[in-house]
Amino acid sequence: MSPAVPVARRSKALSAQFGLTDRLFANGEDRATATAIEDGLVLVEAGLLREVAFADSIADVTGRYLLAAGGKRVRPMLTLLTAQLGEGIGPDVLTAAEAVEITHLASLYHDDVMDEAEKRRGVPTAQAVWGNSVAILTGDLLFARASKLIASLGERATRLQAQTFERLVLGQLHETVGPGPEEDAVEHYLQVLADKTGSLIAAAAQLGVLFSGAPEEYEEPVLLFGERIGVAFQLVDDVLDLSPQSEETGKVAGTDLRAGVPTLPLLYLRRSARTEPSAALLLARIESGLAEPESAELAAAIESLREHQATAVTIGEAHRWAASAVDALAPLPNGTVKKALTRFADVMVERSS
Ligand code: IPE
Ligand code: IPE
Ligand code: MG
Ligand code: MG
Repeated sequence: MSPAVPVARRSKALSAQFGLTDRLFANGEDRATATAIEDGLVLVEAGLLREVAFADSIADVTGRYLLAAGGKRVRPMLTLLTAQLGEGIGPDVLTAAEAVEITHLASLYHDDVMDEAEKRRGVPTAQAVWGNSVAILTGDLLFARASKLIASLGERATRLQAQTFERLVLGQLHETVGPGPEEDAVEHYLQVLADKTGSLIAAAAQLGVLFSGAPEEYEEPVLLFGERIGVAFQLVDDVLDLSPQSEETGKVAGTDLRAGVPTLPLLYLRRSARTEPSAALLLARIESGLAEPESAELAAAIESLREHQATAVTIGEAHRWAASAVDALAPLPNGTVKKALTRFADVMVERSS
């Protein structure tokens, strides 16, 4: 029924991603926080393996498949980090971090069906291996597991998870359906990003505050931070979709475009094409290339889009969202967590995978 479960592709040292080990500004407290997060992530990883096990032998294989393939664990990392604003990483914080990552994992199974993606985390997507129905049902099983975990944290967390999930799904729906005749395509798209990606990253940050006993007034700043950094993160994802570095991204270049998802570089290109002949020419090359998705012409057109001003403007937009995410942190006390979140924002927009 299955290929061997792939060996996990682990990201580089996670505390290093937060910059907490950078010699320039690592003090004792920074190092202690970095260690607490590293230790917490080891526990999250064990928790994920435990929570994604199924007594059913088919579900057990399909459910663990993408978990074992790797992933950056950005969302649980954020939960563990914002928990440092309170009493740190206790059992409830770990449960919340696991639930958020399992929600994310489930959404990937469904997203790859919708995007007809061939690869995820460096391996063939679940539906490429088992077909659409198994991939969709596995996503559903994982959503059920995430809900069960969250329910153990009480009504507030359950409500937050449900609201977040609703936004995530509406984001995917609005992306699929596209803007209405009266809607601005770019504004519509940014709202899609906030909903499909920002909402869960915001919830990850909020849950860390909520379950570490941190002061209530820190909830809003980290929530705003998460939402905005989520948009920046997804804009970078749009640019990475144009990248030929599939070993690094673990995905196939141009997946979004081929699936008809108009990412921001393409929307900006369309805008320029109204007045600039060279942009109109590139747009025509992409559109005719899409008729033959495997052609060298389309690959070359994707490459040209990556080099085009439209992509540079998208990168600029991602940096602006990251800067406004950092602005939202103003009410937090100066210290390790604020420093690490600021660094996290930089890492998110400079990432290559
Ligand atoms: C991918 O998320 C889907 C998006 C919302 C962009 P990640 O880039 O966090 O994926 P993994 O977990 O590292 O594979
Ligand atoms: C994924 O968005 C968003 C969710 C899974 C909710 P994308 O389709 O843009 O992300 P990738 O590129 O497949 O990771
Ligand atoms: Mg996708
Ligand atoms: Mg998608």
